[in-house]
Amino acid sequence: MTKTTNASSLEMRRRCTSAAVCALMLATCTLLAYFAFFSDQLQLPWRPPWPNPSIHHMPIPISFSTTAGTQAPASLSPLPVPTNLSHILFALGGSAHTWDQRRSYTQLWWHLNHTRGHVWLDQQPSSPWPHTCPPYRISRDTSRYGNRAAASRIANIVVEAYELALSSPRKDEVRWFVMGDDDTVFFQENLVGVLQKYDHTQMYYVGMPSESVEQDVMHSYGMAFGGGGFAISYPAAAELAGIMGGCLDRYANFYGSDQRVQACLAELGIPLTREPGFHQVDVRGDVYGMLAAHPVAPLVSLHHLDYVMPISSDRHTQLEGLQSLFSAYEVDPARILQQAFCYDAGSGAGSVLSVSVSWGYTVQVYPQVVAPHELEIPLQTFMTWRSSSRGPFIFNTRPLGDPNNPCVSPFIFFLDRVLQNETEATVTQYSRSRNADDQPKAKCGKKGFSVASRIDKVRVFTPKMDPLLWKQAPRRHCCMTRRTNWGRMLEVRIKYCSPGESTTPPI
Ligand SMILES: *[C@@H]1O[C@H](CO)[C@@H](O)[C@H](O)[C@H]1NC(C)=O
Ligand SMILES: *[C@@H]1O[C@H](CO)[C@@H](O)[C@H](O)[C@H]1NC(C)=O
Ligand SMILES: *[C@@H]1O[C@H](CO)[C@@H](O)[C@H](O)[C@H]1NC(C)=O
Repeated sequence: MTKTTNASSLEMRRRCTSAAVCALMLATCTLLAYFAFFSDQLQLPWRPPWPNPSIHHMPIPISFSTTAGTQAPASLSPLPVPTNLSHILFALGGSAHTWDQRRSYTQLWWHLNHTRGHVWLDQQPSSPWPHTCPPYRISRDTSRYGNRAAASRIANIVVEAYELALSSPRKDEVRWFVMGDDDTVFFQENLVGVLQKYDHTQMYYVGMPSESVEQDVMHSYGMAFGGGGFAISYPAAAELAGIMGGCLDRYANFYGSDQRVQACLAELGIPLTREPGFHQVDVRGDVYGMLAAHPVAPLVSLHHLDYVMPISSDRHTQLEGLQSLFSAYEVDPARILQQAFCYDAGSGAGSVLSVSVSWGYTVQVYPQVVAPHELEIPLQTFMTWRSSSRGPFIFNTRPLGDPNNPCVSPFIFFLDRVLQNETEATVTQYSRSRNADDQPKAKCGKKGFSVASRIDKVRVFTPKMDPLLWKQAPRRHCCMTRRTNWGRMLEVRIKYCSPGESTTPPI
């Protein structure tokens, strides 16, 4: 093959002895390339402004301007296989006594026979282990490490998981150890997406500190809080295994297992790589504001869900709220909780509505103009973890209401169901919350108020998000709206922003 190519290029060179012939060939090539380029440009997908309203044959227009050009040309040195779920070994800290109360959280996200890993228990469970649960292991006795031995036991499961991997015939497949609690809810596809960004042959410690500043001050800003989960690359786990025994002695008086792990990693000089999708959920009350204004980053985990109100006030239990979130997550994992903002000015001057979507979860409709720099700040529906104070948090918050100005409060909608799951696109529907606390307390003077108060359903049309987008610079998507059904339905179409497009509030 190579020989033929060389021969023909040689032949070409030989033929190109005359400069005139060369110039002619060059010109022809340029012309061909020019036409190839423009015919490509002309084959843009046709994008009608709105999808056909008939649900069953809805050709949802998708305007991708996304992944072309993200893959390296095949001729470069072969890329390593991107990290996938089978490269991750989960190690969840559990206890035989609490497993039964908490196992529904793990069962929500754990894919039997696909997810790899174990729940590490303190002792043999008293009843038979359900087939629907991840396999368990009994962790090593750490009682010699003093009165907070339980924390030492959980810290040590990183090492036990590493040793287990080392002795497994599939050990070469393990790239990451992911630690979590038995009440941590992981969004596995997004976890994979996040870990794909990092070279697993290097030493990494990936996670996120607490949302409550008082917690970070007391423990550490440089520590991944364990309930939110954290990932340790194989080489980092190998180093950790070498010194963990000593660390457990040296830091036996520390509070948590996560603090012991961090103290040990600090001895190795491995700092925390922060990923904002891990959530310890160190807040009290209603976590709504946080979930409705997620950073532009994939959602990786949620924790402490037994300590906050159900995430959706239209669902009775926390589990029902999470099941609803997962029904959307399963059709478009990368997009879950991603915000999009748009303005609806369809009713004329003075009645602009501001719309904020947190995809798969909630929609907020404001009866007035609210700029993006405000919409991206969480509404403060929660308190700090330790002292139940109004703050501070590691992000800004804004008040949900103002007794002197009812126009600042949104009408709140929750995910009702996924209407359509096509290969390329989805339709999700959100219903006006039946809870009075989720609506403005009083009528506000703006014309937009009566327009907003008529809306009882929101339908959101989106292209599925390419998970590879998370390897690029993060950017919020754009959207546009229209009202149908005599103003009772708000349709929102989310799309990749066009060149030059911005979400600029109308005057
Ligand atoms: C993950 O990658 C490995 C190669 O390292 C491959 O054998 C395996 O089939 C992949 N698993 C999935 C679920 O794609
Ligand atoms: C998992 O694998 C076991 C044994 O191979 C099988 O009996 C079981 O049905 C599988 N479970 C699922 C949910 O696929
Ligand atoms: C959604 O559609 C995709 C592609 O058509 C399919 O692979 C996936 O299983 C569907 N998911 C759900 C939850 O129905």
